[in-house]
Amino acid sequence: MLVRRLLCSLVGLVLLLGVVLCGPAPLTRPPRGWSSRGVFDCTFDCSRGLDTCLSEVLMRNMADVLAQPEFSKADYNWLLLGNCWSDNIRDPHGNLLANDTRFPGGIQGVAEYAHKKGLYLALYVTVAAAGSPGMPTLHGHIMNDVRTLTSWGVDMIYVDTDMATYPEVNIDFHELGQAIKTSGSDLRVACTWPQFLIHHGIKPNYDEIKNICDVYQSTETMTTSSGWDDVMSVANYYANDTHHVTQASGTREKWNDMGMLLMGEGNLNLKQWQAQMAIWAMYDSAMFVSCDLPSMPTEVKRAMLLPGVVDIDGDTLDQKPGHLVQNEHLHIWHRYVSYGDYVILLLNTSPNVTTTFSESLAHVGLSIYPAYHVRDVINDVDYGQVYVTDAMRVSVWPSSAIMLRCFAQH
Ligand SMILES: *[C@@H]1O[C@H](CO)[C@@H](O)[C@H](O)[C@H]1NC(C)=O
Ligand SMILES: *[C@@H]1O[C@H](CO)[C@@H](O)[C@H](O)[C@H]1NC(C)=O
Ligand SMILES: *[C@@H]1O[C@H](CO)[C@@H](O)[C@H](O)[C@H]1NC(C)=O
Repeated sequence: MLVRRLLCSLVGLVLLLGVVLCGPAPLTRPPRGWSSRGVFDCTFDCSRGLDTCLSEVLMRNMADVLAQPEFSKADYNWLLLGNCWSDNIRDPHGNLLANDTRFPGGIQGVAEYAHKKGLYLALYVTVAAAGSPGMPTLHGHIMNDVRTLTSWGVDMIYVDTDMATYPEVNIDFHELGQAIKTSGSDLRVACTWPQFLIHHGIKPNYDEIKNICDVYQSTETMTTSSGWDDVMSVANYYANDTHHVTQASGTREKWNDMGMLLMGEGNLNLKQWQAQMAIWAMYDSAMFVSCDLPSMPTEVKRAMLLPGVVDIDGDTLDQKPGHLVQNEHLHIWHRYVSYGDYVILLLNTSPNVTTTFSESLAHVGLSIYPAYHVRDVINDVDYGQVYVTDAMRVSVWPSSAIMLRCFAQH
């Protein structure tokens, strides 16, 4: 990829070669990485150093962690620079401007650093908004801004709709899609367009949305003050398949974004972080963490890298999960994944009552082979060979998840 980038930067010199080698950042898996929109959100106070506020230095520090081989192996290769990077005034030519105290090298500097580290840069912008502090709106400047953002080396824009109005939001998104096409830009687009529409009582047309956005968020944004109830509310939205949201994901390179992973932040515990990640993986969601990576506890790092969970997110078999409610507290999701394997996610939604799964694998839809080798990929517990018609007994602790991968024995 480094080679691709280097050659891409020669695009002015070797136009033909560039066209062949460049192209948009790959999204063969849902994007995974770090976002500034949690812990560091709009931290303007840089008096204790640029590594403690939303700045170029902070972004570099995060890039250095994500560039470690274990994170790249788990496909954590996106950096999302959230709101408050910009100055809310444009230069005399009407171009977007980054805050030059905190981003002396501009967004271009951040993008270059990310690319040098083998990462991609996503940048927060908004449409059809009144342009509140720190939220640069593309409204009225869309074509010019697409050119600017592309020339900065931004790989994806994260288009928020927080303060937007209807129908301006639709008009702006269509204009954005056109601008990217006609300018030949490689910009990827993540958006909260469906969430905006649902919030305003309008049923989203995902075909229309997927034409313009590569990654789309339908549910409320997760923040550092989100709790277990918020995770459950997103899970319910997907489980109920409200507005056919699950059909929206799954065309390769088009993904749902269920919101930030709360891993490493205030309100949840380790079991709950793992549960959230496991639900997100069942639905092939984008995964962004936003804790302070250089100082994260080992357990957060281990949770982020949990291979059995990470592998399922964006599994190439492209299956939608089935969902059933087993009892008052026990929710079950299941889906086939690659190699003929089957994944069963047991989630105890109660914060204080332990519940038990005591059913056969056949009861949750598994039938192809007579027996499977079953392993809980979250807690690393091996259940050995299990016949699909035999009852299994698995206890699930309060607000925690068990993810059983049933390995096909061909
Ligand atoms: C740029 O960021 C600095 C440091 O956070 C802040 O003091 C300043 O007001 C910002 N400048 C503008 C024009 O927003
Ligand atoms: C999903 O359905 C359940 C019951 O079927 C209901 O209690 C819950 O409120 C629904 N959630 C959403 C987000 O629609
Ligand atoms: C468990 O939590 C629920 C909801 O927070 C509460 O209503 C219930 O009383 C609690 N039960 C026990 C046994 O603590």
